[in-house]
Amino acid sequence: MTQEFKIINPQCVPQVTLRTGDKMPIVGLGTFGSDRYTNQEIADAVKAAIRMGYRHIDCAEVYQNEKEIGAAIAEVIAEGVVSRDELWITGKVWNNRHREVEQSCRESLDDLGIDYFNLYLVHWPFPNYHAPFASPDDRNPDSQPFSVDEYMDTWRQMEGLVDKGLVKNIGTSNMTIAKFKATLPLMQILPVANEMELHPCFQQPELFDYVVSKQIQPIGFSPIGSPRRPERDRTEDDAIDIDHPVVQKIAKRLDVHPAVVCIKWGIQRGQVTIPFSVKSAQMFANLQASVQDLLTTEEMSQMETADCNSRLIKGQVFLWEGASGWEDLWDLDGAIATLVSNK
Ligand SMILES: NC(=O)c1ccc[n+]([C@@H]2O[C@H](COP(=O)([O-])OP(=O)(O)OC[C@H]3O[C@@H](n4cnc5c(N)ncnc54)[C@H](OP(=O)(O)O)[C@@H]3O)[C@@H](O)[C@H]2O)c1
Repeated sequence: MTQEFKIINPQCVPQVTLRTGDKMPIVGLGTFGSDRYTNQEIADAVKAAIRMGYRHIDCAEVYQNEKEIGAAIAEVIAEGVVSRDELWITGKVWNNRHREVEQSCRESLDDLGIDYFNLYLVHWPFPNYHAPFASPDDRNPDSQPFSVDEYMDTWRQMEGLVDKGLVKNIGTSNMTIAKFKATLPLMQILPVANEMELHPCFQQPELFDYVVSKQIQPIGFSPIGSPRRPERDRTEDDAIDIDHPVVQKIAKRLDVHPAVVCIKWGIQRGQVTIPFSVKSAQMFANLQASVQDLLTTEEMSQMETADCNSRLIKGQVFLWEGASGWEDLWDLDGAIATLVSNK
């Protein structure tokens, strides 16, 4: 880190308490570089982030940078900046490893140079694999709609990771209420968290309230509206959160970038937030968002009006033959889409 940036005392950063009693810092650093940054740039950002006070890093095997991030973490631990037990490290099993979760988890742990994850997630509830850098129209002919049996087989393996001490907590990602209703009653170890797309223009109030009611902590990904996401995740009608007039008005009052308003809103709403950046000034501002200048109650109400249901990460590359469109992945009418789509 360049020394011009101050350090934020990690003990001042709020934490959420999960159903297991573990405490997760409310701001984490995202590590998906949207195909724009090198692994080394992202690893350097992880080092800088930990030095400035971040204690939560959101990783995934599919980001293909766990080795470099592992070396970065080892370096800051060796320097005495932090110890492993002060860090919260999340990992995720990718779609092509649903039948070999333990092996995939062990490989990620090896790459990261750690011996447990604080949280391990099923990244997507489908075993549908697309190659990194896939284009929006790429389809894998083996792709299938959601299957309760398949997911529960994966979940049993996730539960096994807790029993073996490889992970402290397990959770879900990109789930829907319909999929939760079908699977929660079958689980022996319940998810502590659900990682889901959450930003001012996509607030998912129904799913948010549902997971909170089940003691599942929402973790919001793409909290700034992922302004640099890959082309495959862009469509014409997508809203731009940082351009929204309510967001801009509050940013002006606080004299911060609109990105910081998105983060403050998320934290005050009660979601964990995992903004990505490799730039020290941005990383600092994003962490600082959690320790100063709250939005007023009136501003929080105004932020509710920014929601226009603008899903950005639609997941179209996970669709199966016969699906009618990306909406089939999200059970919009409350029913899980089947192989022959009836929508
Ligand atoms: N579970 C899942 O399926 C899933 C899906 C997507 C993402 N994620 C996780 O969520 C993380 C965050 O999401 P994301 O990377 O899609 O998007 P994001 O955090 O909403 O947006 C990141 C971009 O916002 C800009 N930015 C960050 N802080 C800023 C600041 N203070 N001021 C101005 N601009 C700022 C940066 O742009 P520049 O680089 O141009 O500066 C950065 O690349 C990912 O890295 C990943 O860890 C999980």
